[in-house]
Amino acid sequence: MPSESKVENPVIHPFLFIYQLWQWLIDFILSPAPPRPGEQLSRPKIAIIGAGITGVASAAHCVGHGFDVTIFEAGDEKNVGGIWSKVNNTSSLQIHSLMYRFHPSVKWERGYPDRQQIISQVRQVWETYGLDKKTVFNKKIEKVYKDDKGRWILDDPSNGVYEGLIAAVGTCGDPKMPHLDGMEKFKGPTFHSSQLTGKSAKDKTMIVIGGGASAVEALEFAADEGAKKVYIIARSDKWIIPRNPIVNMLLALNIFGQETIFSFIPEFLLRKLFYRDLEDLAPYNKGIFMDTPMVNSDVMDKLRTGAAEWVRCDIVDFTDRGILVNKREKGGDMVVQATGFKRPSLSFLPDDCFEEPYGAPNWYLQTFPPNHPSVSAINCTYLSAIGTVGNWHIGIYTRILLMFLSDPLTRPQPFWMRRWIDMTKVLKATAPTGAFDFFTYLELLWWFAFCVTINPFRWKWAVFVFFGIGSALPKRVVRVEDRVRNGLGMQHQEVERDTGKHF
Ligand SMILES: Cc1cc2nc3c(=O)[nH]c(=O)nc-3n(C[C@H](O)[C@H](O)[C@H](O)COP(=O)(O)OP(=O)(O)OC[C@H]3O[C@@H](n4cnc5c(N)ncnc54)[C@H](O)[C@@H]3O)c2cc1C
Ligand SMILES: NC(=O)c1ccc[n+]([C@@H]2O[C@H](COP(=O)([O-])OP(=O)(O)OC[C@H]3O[C@@H](n4cnc5c(N)ncnc54)[C@H](OP(=O)(O)O)[C@@H]3O)[C@@H](O)[C@H]2O)c1
Repeated sequence: MPSESKVENPVIHPFLFIYQLWQWLIDFILSPAPPRPGEQLSRPKIAIIGAGITGVASAAHCVGHGFDVTIFEAGDEKNVGGIWSKVNNTSSLQIHSLMYRFHPSVKWERGYPDRQQIISQVRQVWETYGLDKKTVFNKKIEKVYKDDKGRWILDDPSNGVYEGLIAAVGTCGDPKMPHLDGMEKFKGPTFHSSQLTGKSAKDKTMIVIGGGASAVEALEFAADEGAKKVYIIARSDKWIIPRNPIVNMLLALNIFGQETIFSFIPEFLLRKLFYRDLEDLAPYNKGIFMDTPMVNSDVMDKLRTGAAEWVRCDIVDFTDRGILVNKREKGGDMVVQATGFKRPSLSFLPDDCFEEPYGAPNWYLQTFPPNHPSVSAINCTYLSAIGTVGNWHIGIYTRILLMFLSDPLTRPQPFWMRRWIDMTKVLKATAPTGAFDFFTYLELLWWFAFCVTINPFRWKWAVFVFFGIGSALPKRVVRVEDRVRNGLGMQHQEVERDTGKHF
């Protein structure tokens, strides 16, 4: 696949050169070949809702393995890349690009790519895999239902029929700007944290409401702009961890996906080696494995220099000059609401996806609603995690779905999907959060390994599921199995792919 980046000089930038070589190797070995121009792709056909990194990457995997797709995107063509198409120009990955490999063909030019680079890589995958001809824009899906053959219809039959469905609507929708009591009294401008591009903060005092990753991003924006002072008004505590791939990976290796008796070790080390003199900013009643931490190293330096102040408090009122917090006023020239994003709704899925206690995120492998093994809601059910949204799991989830669609003996029954969910809840019974409210990346890999090994009919798919290679053998075996079944008069050709038959 062509890469726009130039090859680094191995003497001047040896690490960058090795990184480039590694990316090239991954692409060469693991990227499925894009369909040839005019190539007719086969059924089962998959409908993909959303053209962010998840929708585009999963669609590229499907067509690369010969399955036809249509992507439905609520926005227009400028929305390819999803949330990354809408945020500040200064936004960049908070985790290292090693861990944001949303498709094997991605070629990053640096460790922490910015918004422009992310969008350009998403578009490159989109175009290379011919998805530009398979995307319907300005189509917000409101409802999906099945026809009399058990195939999926999106809104109405004019949009086609599909055997599989990937919901890739993300977790960050429109900016969330809650009305705060008295906010109209403030005379200065108020912006959402994702809408700062082009705004001037030079020599101004900025008040940031919210203590999440967006607040830290607003702080970076203020520093770049030369703001006089930044107050971060945070009503709750979140852990901040350094922007260091080794630290991130070590934390993601907690296979239990929850607080354990050993959690005090990373918490102690973070307090002593990272927070240091700012130790009292570390959450005192929230463990590191309870909520998505913020990943940023510079914030501590900015707090130390006094350029920024992290104010733990509740907002009491607004005045014409600023905000009253716990009776003390914080004066400022502009207010930034880093209050998060509205969560896109999955309510277009059938009602039986949300029957308690098996509503999202309490789904099979967190993405398959137990009544529908032909539906995977990738990256849009999770609440918090230590890991990343844009990594190998997009491909693995997609290929598990392709395995379920291609091979009836691998497709789980609702009964067994629910038992897996129950088992995970038992294993995480001591977690301070719900079993699926927090997970780590290694835990996710354990879920995949369990899924593939528990059913012997899935073994032949293992290399395909994990690496995206070697689908010829399992496909051949399935054809033989089909012939045997037909010979026994059990089945002719499978159309309905949404009924699980095995465990
Ligand atoms: C500023 C910012 C920085 C971030 N940094 C990181 C990071 O460093 N690391 C990380 O792992 N994550 C990060 N995230 C999280 C981010 O959400 C993911 O990285 C990733 O972009 C999610 O991609 P997605 O495709 O799943 O969802 P999105 O990018 O949100 O795309 C979803 C798409 O679905 C469309 N859609 C929604 N509903 C419908 C519907 N009903 N019908 C049709 N289309 C629909 C939307 O229009 C959108 O285009 C960041 C988020 C923000 C806001
Ligand atoms: N560069 C990056 O990597 C980056 C940058 C931005 C965002 N993101 C990602 O995008 C997602 C959203 O992050 P986010 O920081 O925008 O949102 P967030 O994590 O939901 O944080 C929102 C913050 O605003 C506070 N808040 C919400 N409503 C409030 C109110 N009415 N009054 C006072 N405070 C209020 C919240 O407090 P409570 O917690 O008490 O509700 C919280 O501190 C996350 O997944 C994050 O990782 C990543």
